[in-house]
Amino acid sequence: MELVKFIVVGLGLTAKYTLAALLTDPRHLPQTQWDYIVVGAGTAGCVVANRLSENPKVKILVIEAGVQNTGPDASAIEVPFLVAEASSGTTFDWNYTTTPQAALNNRTTAYPRGFVLGGSSSTNYMAFTRGSSEEYNRLASISGDSGWSWRKIFPYALKNEKHVASADNHKTTGEYNPSVHGNGPLLTSLPGTSTDIDNRVLETTKELHSEFPFNLDMNAGNPLGVGWLQSTIGNSVRSSSATAYLSPALANRSNINLLTNTRVTRLIKTNNLSSRFPTFLGVEFAQTASGPRFTATAREEVILSAGSIGTPQILMLSGIGDQTKLSKLGIKTAVNLPDVGMNMQDHPFFALQWSVNSTKTFDSIVNNATAFSDAFAQYEATGQGIFANNAIANHIGFFRLAESSGILKQFGDPTAGPHSPHYEFAFINGFYGTTQTEPTTGNYFSAAVILVSPTSRGSVTLASDSPFDHPLIDPALLATSFDQQVVVEAVEALQRFISASPWKGYIKAPYGGSANATTRDGILEYARNSVISIRHPMGTAAMSQTRARAGVVDAHLLVKGVEGVRIVDASVIPGIAAHPQAAVYIIAERAADLIKAAR
Ligand SMILES: Cc1cc2nc3c(=O)[nH]c(=O)nc-3n(C[C@H](O)[C@H](O)[C@H](O)COP(=O)(O)OP(=O)(O)OC[C@H]3O[C@@H](n4cnc5c(N)ncnc54)[C@H](O)[C@@H]3O)c2cc1C
Ligand SMILES: *[C@@H]1O[C@H](CO)[C@@H](O)[C@H](O)[C@H]1NC(C)=O
Ligand SMILES: *[C@@H]1O[C@H](CO)[C@@H](O)[C@H](O)[C@H]1NC(C)=O
Ligand SMILES: *[C@@H]1O[C@H](CO)[C@@H](O)[C@H](O)[C@H]1NC(C)=O
Ligand SMILES: *[C@@H]1O[C@H](CO)[C@@H](O)[C@H](O)[C@H]1NC(C)=O
Ligand SMILES: *[C@@H]1O[C@H](CO)[C@@H](O)[C@H](O)[C@H]1NC(C)=O
Ligand SMILES: *[C@@H]1O[C@H](CO)[C@@H](O)[C@H](O)[C@H]1NC(C)=O
Ligand SMILES: *[C@@H]1O[C@H](CO)[C@@H](O)[C@H](O)[C@H]1NC(C)=O
Repeated sequence: MELVKFIVVGLGLTAKYTLAALLTDPRHLPQTQWDYIVVGAGTAGCVVANRLSENPKVKILVIEAGVQNTGPDASAIEVPFLVAEASSGTTFDWNYTTTPQAALNNRTTAYPRGFVLGGSSSTNYMAFTRGSSEEYNRLASISGDSGWSWRKIFPYALKNEKHVASADNHKTTGEYNPSVHGNGPLLTSLPGTSTDIDNRVLETTKELHSEFPFNLDMNAGNPLGVGWLQSTIGNSVRSSSATAYLSPALANRSNINLLTNTRVTRLIKTNNLSSRFPTFLGVEFAQTASGPRFTATAREEVILSAGSIGTPQILMLSGIGDQTKLSKLGIKTAVNLPDVGMNMQDHPFFALQWSVNSTKTFDSIVNNATAFSDAFAQYEATGQGIFANNAIANHIGFFRLAESSGILKQFGDPTAGPHSPHYEFAFINGFYGTTQTEPTTGNYFSAAVILVSPTSRGSVTLASDSPFDHPLIDPALLATSFDQQVVVEAVEALQRFISASPWKGYIKAPYGGSANATTRDGILEYARNSVISIRHPMGTAAMSQTRARAGVVDAHLLVKGVEGVRIVDASVIPGIAAHPQAAVYIIAERAADLIKAAR
């Protein structure tokens, strides 16, 4: 969909900054010493900056490589229906590409990451899924800190998020459980427009309830089953870490200083005689590869929140990483920490499509310029209609392989427990393809398949010693036999789902290559040709017990063998079978309390 080009009018959502300093030029920084320096104003970084700046005595510098989230262009990342368009290859994207993926017939694929205030929370698909209680309990045992357990962490989930009315103000009884939602700054809501497939999906959960049960609220600790999608949308626009956490802090507080369009190039050693480990309270930054380098130092801590790609890249550029790999690039090792950039987990994703007996799919709007501009005019005037809705789906579902499955017998179960999923579906009321070209005529139903429990692990490594070169990103999509067999099982489960009676007379025929996904070999070949990343990299600076040699940070997110540096972003999550933004917010909320307590 080339939808963004249609948008000619900004939505006038320009934030007003009154108290804080908002700079785009490092030469204008008022001082070089700060209490805290936060690297990356992304999903986690904005939470940390907001919470730390609650204390007016604390002086904070936030450095962000990307651009601001306001101005006329920004409607592309604010209008819910358009966001998938705006995430890749635009001014808000880092424009990364993966290395050739062996299991995908050596294809490379785009690897979007938010290059904007709010980071990837400003460009993601807005699905809000916390994951299972078992996954947080597993994190508690991996890290040796019961503070990460579901019971202890849940108050932070409530502190993060507030469920608000849908764009169409419909009655949402029976679509979610209000008691598991809180009163935090991040706004979430249920779908803002109903579609003709909603009832078919819900009827299928009745007809095939043992395999595909209805789940009232996937964010209550057990995500299994089919439920209404909750999205980070409030008042008909995206709610991000920038709008929910950063903007209010900037507007109200003078102790937070933000520098955008500036890349942190490395951390600088600031050892003193009483340091136990190498101390890195210095930060170096620059606006261009050949431009001048600037420095600042933190009195208390440097918080790395540059995300699963940026954080390991900065660590390695600072000499914190695998000694053998660093020395090959001529980087002197300060701390030999081999797991930096390793253990990367990501979720392979593809979709199947069918032509349908209907004209009421979103194809009728995106392929018709008149209908499209009418719908957009309605949205601008009222905040309602299809543009207020998340394009990805009104319903998603998380499922497990059968407990008797031969795959589990052969490989074991990588999930955190019996309420944690292996795969996910999203039910889409129109044509959605990952590698397929969008047809310009016809009406379609699409179902996305996401492998949320992969056993393959990829990596982020440096391509060179220049901070302005993209690192090598290898998400290792579908690399293991387990992963390949699970996607085949998932497509077979999907075929069972759409064989239920609600789809009779509606689904006409598989579209294009989906027709080949009927045999196990055909499904796998289709997956190899269509899988991309759903953009969930995690684990590249994974949490582990303080004394464990593996991992990069301890249970309090402090970098092992280093003083002064804490990591707060998706890179510390060893892996989670969910869309990870909710977990990132929750971890960042607790991390802010850990940082306050350490002072
Ligand atoms: C296209 C897309 C769709 C997604 N869809 C969903 C979804 O529907 N639901 C969901 O839960 N998750 C989704 N995700 C994943 C989710 O958004 C991320 O897991 C989460 O936002 C990561 O948060 P973070 O704080 O780790 O990193 P980010 O939010 O990416 O923040 C990192 C920040 O650091 C900045 N930075 C990086 N390097 C430097 C440097 N050297 N100097 C200064 N700043 C730097 C970046 O510009 C960025 O602002 C999606 C992601 C993408 C990209
Ligand atoms: C990504 O590509 C777009 C389109 O070419 C460009 O505007 C943007 O600046 C690029 N992002 C970065 C970080 O260079
Ligand atoms: C992928 O590339 C590798 C290395 O170049 C090669 O050995 C392999 O045969 C290729 N695989 C496919 C399916 O083309
Ligand atoms: C200032 O903070 C208050 C309370 O946290 C908040 O309600 C308000 O929206 C903030 N101001 C702005 C302009 O964001
Ligand atoms: C020296 O390092 C120790 C330990 O990190 C720290 O507590 C102390 O404040 C540092 N002293 C100076 C002068 O920076
Ligand atoms: C395009 O949309 C307009 C406005 O809804 C409608 O009148 C017209 O019939 C549509 N055209 C086609 C070819 O469907
Ligand atoms: C198409 O759907 C209509 C109802 O919307 C139904 O009457 C008709 O029989 C369906 N066509 C086919 C071929 O199933
Ligand atoms: C479907 O499978 C056939 C036979 O393997 C192949 O020739 C064809 O290219 C496939 N179609 C698509 C769209 O992948």
